[in-house]
Amino acid sequence: MDKILYGGDYNPEQWLHMPEILEKDIEYFKKAHINTVTVGVFSWGALEPEEGRYEFGWLEDRIDTLYENGISVILATPSGARPKWLADAYPEVLRVREDRTKMLFGQRHNHCYTSPVYREKVRAIDTELAKRFGNHPGVLLWHISNEFGGECHCPYCQAAFREWLKKKYGTIDALNEQWSTTFWSHQYQSFDQVESPSSIGERSVHGLVLDWKRFVTDQTVDFMNWEIGALRAAGSDKPVTTNMMYEYTPLNYAKFADSLDVISWDSYPAWHKRETAVTAEDTAMQHDLFRSMKRGQPFLLMESSPSATNWQPVSKLRRPGMVKQAALQAIAHGADASLYFQMRQSRGSFEKFHGAVIDQYGGCDTRVFREVEETGAVLEAISEVKGSITKAQAAIFYDTENIWAMEEAKGPRNEGLFRKEAQRKLYHGLRRMGLDVDMVCMDADLTGYRIVAAPMAYMFREGFAEKIETFVREGGIFLLTYWSGVVNENDLCYLGGRPYGLMDVMGLRSTEIDGLYDWEENHACPTAENSLGLKHTYTCRHLCELVQLRQTDGAPTEVLMTYGDDFYAGTPVVTRHPYGRGTAYAILADIEPAFYDEFFEILMERPETAVSCLVKGPLPEGLEVCRREHADTEYLFLQNFGKETCSFDLKEADEEEQVWQVLYEENPDSYRKPGTQTIRVGETVVLKRHLPIK
Ligand code: GLA
Ligand code: ZN
Repeated sequence: MDKILYGGDYNPEQWLHMPEILEKDIEYFKKAHINTVTVGVFSWGALEPEEGRYEFGWLEDRIDTLYENGISVILATPSGARPKWLADAYPEVLRVREDRTKMLFGQRHNHCYTSPVYREKVRAIDTELAKRFGNHPGVLLWHISNEFGGECHCPYCQAAFREWLKKKYGTIDALNEQWSTTFWSHQYQSFDQVESPSSIGERSVHGLVLDWKRFVTDQTVDFMNWEIGALRAAGSDKPVTTNMMYEYTPLNYAKFADSLDVISWDSYPAWHKRETAVTAEDTAMQHDLFRSMKRGQPFLLMESSPSATNWQPVSKLRRPGMVKQAALQAIAHGADASLYFQMRQSRGSFEKFHGAVIDQYGGCDTRVFREVEETGAVLEAISEVKGSITKAQAAIFYDTENIWAMEEAKGPRNEGLFRKEAQRKLYHGLRRMGLDVDMVCMDADLTGYRIVAAPMAYMFREGFAEKIETFVREGGIFLLTYWSGVVNENDLCYLGGRPYGLMDVMGLRSTEIDGLYDWEENHACPTAENSLGLKHTYTCRHLCELVQLRQTDGAPTEVLMTYGDDFYAGTPVVTRHPYGRGTAYAILADIEPAFYDEFFEILMERPETAVSCLVKGPLPEGLEVCRREHADTEYLFLQNFGKETCSFDLKEADEEEQVWQVLYEENPDSYRKPGTQTIRVGETVVLKRHLPIK
């Protein structure tokens, strides 16, 4: 399809007894510029009402009718929830919880990914679906299951886990060594003794907990691949996706990427709970995270609410304009789809009060519908951005295994590591300077980035330190924070000093780390005549790392800031170390956000940083700038999530460059040329220009 996908989750099976509703749906979809709907999510009961009896007629009728009306379908496999008959006939499909209690039928996503029967039943229905619809011209994409999640501790899963461990470690001695089981006499004599972590059993062996989490991810990916395999074997080669969730750390999503043709995720920001700019930035970071899973390729916003949700503590309405602004934000950050949950609000059960494009009143003369319609028109008008990519110059590590290990460990602070805040401060600092930012896992290829930041990179897996060393030596700017380079991939502490493998690059060795009580503060004070010209003093909280500078063959380590208080007053808290052709900065404490603002403002001006931005930072509060490009055109998205009209300086076109044209603007007079531009609260402007032929 050459348009941005617009539409959302649609469950016609809830309305089969009311054909007039189904007819209205089509009429309203067309009115609202809907071109894509997701069908089949949780439809197993309607598709296979009895074991082996498939009822696909209604679905075929819907897919055909939608297609005739210019609406394509994302077809889901139904494995996200299973029918009652299945759970009754084969109780093994139901999960066992970590406390070893067996679940009853109910909810959704309550099934074992290992169970052979579950796999067989899923494969059977997926095969039938693929045979019937797998080459239908109206089917765009397969949507595998729905929001994979959770874990199962049944005997099948225990056995599979032991196999997984055997494959990883080979011998039980190797496992014992990596898990450090001599501690508390927890040695295993054979793989058969290993059991998954449990609140009534073992949780103190961190290597076990970590490997279990890895296994859960691998088993979920294996299940997903099993489903994809069924579709392929039945002759469908349509692309596949699965919808992921916000900050869902129980699974390591990075491991899903290779199996999928396109990444998609479900975004439900609590708009209007905090300042819009704060919520917008948090959402932006997630968009960037999902986009980065396929390095800059477009992703899909698979779900979002056109109104309130019904599962957040407070079901807040989207204020006028917010639906459109949120949809455009996804596109700005690299999405090729903006889809809703849901098209038509259900009459009963769990989600009857969740926002929908068409509500229970049933007309199209509603505020929400009008906003959806307006948004559809805008997305249609900017269709040409579809397929364009994002090329970020900066990357921040976001690594799920690192998070697992760090958060499970009993360490320097067991009541809040403020890990996410550390990441957010870097993200804000870089974005504020006008940069697009990738959020990548620690295995990512760093080619093409100018700045790479590693907040709390506790776990250095094999090869990580070497990769960073190369990056810096070859000219990159690298930022590393406290509590980094501490353990290997099995959570075994490195001997000989940390950050492991990077002490020469950083020009220091970490000696101790101080956990601060909530009410405690230290300070980061600039040193006289520091080469960056840092001027201000900032508060440090939560974690303060102490280091010893290291004499290397190259340039000495410069201390840019020192602690202001406590017995380590006067010792380094921010350092700079030129290494090879690049520079490594260490930020050794949890310093307040304002530090990052000053730091990045200075860093951007330095010639060695060598980044170029179309809009020069620092950007005013709430202004988001994103760039996408095709081979011959670049697009600039500007969105004001702030509280005031703001102005920005667009980099002037040099001789070879074309002048910017407006692809979309909210109000015809909001974008004025030339000179300084202004953008009002809640507005979006999309600019474009042709790129010089290289
Ligand atoms: C998730 C699910 C949907 C629906 C929405 C409600 O994202 O995938 O089926 O339950 O939440 O917000
Ligand atoms: Zn199981």
